[in-house]
Amino acid sequence: MKPLREMAVDVLSTADGRTKTALSRQYAAEWQAARKAGELPELGRANPPDFPARPSEPELLDPRDVPKRKPGSEAGRLALLHAVAHIELNAVDLHWDIIARFPDIEMPIGFFDDWVKAADEESKHFNLMCDCLEALGSHYGALPAHAGMWRAAEDTTGDIMARLAVVPMVLEARGLDVTPGMIKLFKQSKNQQAIDALEVIYAEEVHHVAYGSKWFNFLCGRDNLDPTEVFHRLVRKYFHSTLKPPFNEEKRAEAGLPPDFYWPLTEEYEARA
Ligand SMILES: [Fe+2]
Ligand SMILES: [Fe+2]
Repeated sequence: MKPLREMAVDVLSTADGRTKTALSRQYAAEWQAARKAGELPELGRANPPDFPARPSEPELLDPRDVPKRKPGSEAGRLALLHAVAHIELNAVDLHWDIIARFPDIEMPIGFFDDWVKAADEESKHFNLMCDCLEALGSHYGALPAHAGMWRAAEDTTGDIMARLAVVPMVLEARGLDVTPGMIKLFKQSKNQQAIDALEVIYAEEVHHVAYGSKWFNFLCGRDNLDPTEVFHRLVRKYFHSTLKPPFNEEKRAEAGLPPDFYWPLTEEYEARA
């Protein structure tokens, strides 16, 4: 078996979405089988690319130039599935990237178990979204998608705590806020395949946020830092927006994100402070 960080770079360097996720799932299975057998597989050291390889389509546009479609329309629902597929593919790369990116930060083996599992789940999510698009006669790449999805990764290449704060604890937590609304939309259009896929995503994303929170708190504890203070400082420094309510307080709590982490980062609160 290859060292884990070399596996990560292989996935990051694979352009085609279905090929990337197949490799990601194969490597995750190898890692998990070894861990189940009680082994401590080698982590190794490898150079992750600045930008992961991506397919020639979709065309990547500035978010302002991505055409807006009515959420209740057929075209709007298709665009939504396409946007989620794009987010999931990006998430596959984000989870492998955190595995490869910080070799000098000593972490317990459980850190790697968690992100391998998350990367495997994101790969499944991308495939589920592709299946939904294909069932509607479309495919991933058929519509333009947001450029700049890798921004959070670029901004935090030098700081593992900032990476955890911004990616799982802000961006993936945002997914928990908005996914129930999407499920409702597909219930209205009676698209059972999309409902089932989004239910899987919704259930599994809670764990990704929880992994973020767990390892963020671990690193704070190791350096005797106040997690709430550090979280606020890092999100203000590295995340280029305020946080937007309404929040899914219940799921956020389940994922180990208390309200005093995120409410102070909303526009309303920042304006009062
Ligand atoms: Fe996902
Ligand atoms: Fe995720």
